[in-house]
Amino acid sequence: MEKDNARQRVLSGIQPTGTFTLGNYLGAVRNWPLLQNEYDCVYMIADQHSITVKQEPKLLRQRTLEAGAMLLASGIDPDKSLVFIQSQNPAHSQLSWALSCYTMFGELSRMTQYKDKSAKHADNINAGLFTYPVLMAADILIYNAHKVPVGADQKQHVELARDIATRFNNLYGETFVLPENLNPKVGAKIMSLQEPTKKMSKSDTNEKATILLLDDETKIMKKFKSAVTDSENCVRYDVENKPGISNLMGIYNVFTGKSFEEIEKEFDGLGYGAFKEAVGTSVVEGLRPFQTKYNDIISDKAYLQKVLTEGAEKSYAYAMRTVRKVYKKIGFVQFDK
Ligand code: TYM
Repeated sequence: MEKDNARQRVLSGIQPTGTFTLGNYLGAVRNWPLLQNEYDCVYMIADQHSITVKQEPKLLRQRTLEAGAMLLASGIDPDKSLVFIQSQNPAHSQLSWALSCYTMFGELSRMTQYKDKSAKHADNINAGLFTYPVLMAADILIYNAHKVPVGADQKQHVELARDIATRFNNLYGETFVLPENLNPKVGAKIMSLQEPTKKMSKSDTNEKATILLLDDETKIMKKFKSAVTDSENCVRYDVENKPGISNLMGIYNVFTGKSFEEIEKEFDGLGYGAFKEAVGTSVVEGLRPFQTKYNDIISDKAYLQKVLTEGAEKSYAYAMRTVRKVYKKIGFVQFDK
């Protein structure tokens, strides 16, 4: 990691709760390697966040390593960016405790993801589920990140991180950089293929609703063919009245670079069958390089371990500088070494 102020910094993270979805990819991960040349980038596998929901330990371990391989397969270059597992860098949890004392109960109660997740996991509304946005604020503020590339569903959490940073800075003087959301123009909210008014999610129990980045060609084509649309049989961008078709157009736009107007023209009079087939093919082709690279990386455990260990060490060294600065400001005694 470069010295302070050399370049602006980017931080983002993803939970290792399963194979990444096309939503994760288009809303977040795909954009991460594109930022490496302009920013100092830090990308994190947020395993500590994922235990806010029950996880099977063996599966979590496996999925965490797979998530590491997926991040590298997406084009993140460990010579340019830091990639690490959150639980291997204890500085985040340290800062999180301090920040929780500058975060209001009311603020956390307003987080829509908390409301959604506590409704979905009514048998396990644990304190971590509630304070999760504080840990996320620590992830961001600890690196003095200027930009946070996330999908639309994480926007509110980034705004909270900014509010916490502002409050702390007002109390103790300039300490944290105020982070900004970096949401993609298209792809910030990829919808379920079965219920296109709901976001595509890793935890969806209906397999047909979600494209997983490691799905093979047959699966991808099948899922797009059975995608829920409408009865108009006209390819037209209209999120309100045609959420299914508009969602597919968004996906096709990202993979082909064609504008919505061009897409409408291309499928004028052709009907949904041909359109769905074309969308499926664009995704199969678009994901092929990612899948090939993933298979190489996941079979080289030694390489993966080396990258993630180095990432944890380097990110910890940087992050502890922020923790020490914060500890000093809030009045914790620190003896000279
Ligand atoms: P997570 O793991 O739920 O999602 C990872 C990223 O994928 C985006 N995303 C989507 N984008 C578009 N359409 C969708 N259907 C879709 N589903 C998910 C998310 O917006 C996110 O950018 N709390 C975070 C992880 C995290 C983090 C951080 C992010 C932990 N610490 C610090 C940024 C900064 C999460 O649960 O993401």
